[in-house]
Amino acid sequence: MIVLLKRLRYITVLLSSTTIMLFLYFQNSEMVLTYSSYIFVSEQALCGCHICVADQGNSSWFSERYKPTVPLLLNSTNTDLHANVSMWWKELQDVPNISNYTEVVDQLFPLFPDEEHYSDAGPERCRTCAVVGNSGNLLGSNYGPLIDFHDFVIRINKGPTKGYEKNVGNKTTHRILYPESAVDLDENTHLVFFPFKVLDMQWLISAFTTKNITQTYTEVPSTIKANKDKVMILHPEFIKYVHDNWSEGHGRYPSTGFLTLIFALHICDKVNVFGFGATSDRNWHHYFDETLALFESNIHGADFENKTINWLQQENKIMMYKGWT
Ligand code: C5P
Repeated sequence: MIVLLKRLRYITVLLSSTTIMLFLYFQNSEMVLTYSSYIFVSEQALCGCHICVADQGNSSWFSERYKPTVPLLLNSTNTDLHANVSMWWKELQDVPNISNYTEVVDQLFPLFPDEEHYSDAGPERCRTCAVVGNSGNLLGSNYGPLIDFHDFVIRINKGPTKGYEKNVGNKTTHRILYPESAVDLDENTHLVFFPFKVLDMQWLISAFTTKNITQTYTEVPSTIKANKDKVMILHPEFIKYVHDNWSEGHGRYPSTGFLTLIFALHICDKVNVFGFGATSDRNWHHYFDETLALFESNIHGADFENKTINWLQQENKIMMYKGWT
């Protein structure tokens, strides 16, 4: 009888300790599970680079300005402009907007790709971009191979590659243009069109169809060589967003280079910047001619743009390559 009682007590102790251990085990594993899924959710990478531009967790200065939901490019579903954007955008340049905006944009997307572009961000991708400005500080830099190493090489206006390959590279995936800065592109280059007035959109249509617009506030080419299926058009709301959030209202509207740089923050995971700023002897000429780039600060708020670019570098959002000359 005593032996039986002892066995019973032994079995009870064994059962209860097993129950307690099992309880603790499952409780812990749930914690582990919950904890690891928490880590998974909270650390889901925005991109595959070491640091992702769009990560708003590492700079409050940046997150106060960066708006990931802003419309980047026009497509047939987002052409309606908010009244304040429409009013502001139509006043940018002293060229009367005679034509009706809606009638003009309605002609854009039967002609050009009507797509959601740049929606391919993901934890496995590290989209590196070189934004190449036109500063003379590129001369003697030997940056060519480094620039060409990027996934996207974004060039601005007339900045040529032919004859300057050693310093600026020869790859161009995107070229930023507007009618007054138009040049011919090759088949594989995206024409990223920056419209500053309704007439600019009309020029774009005309350049690929009737070729009858040859004048804006100056003479413009009636057409250009470019792949119609690679045309992208910057959204007017994006220009206002850069003016409000990044230029903080300085100047009348942002410069093409500054717009391009902020555009790159929205389509790239890593942004390296070349050919911005004066040469070491404070010269503001282009690398391809002796014309001084005119930064009329009353128009573009150049000083403030430069300050913002320096801040972006300090906050590790971009890397500036200042050249050698
Ligand atoms: O002169 P352009 O507007 O074609 O140059 C394109 C961009 O390159 C400018 O908007 C500016 O951001 C940059 N640039 C520069 N310093 C220069 C020339 C151009 O920062 N000397």
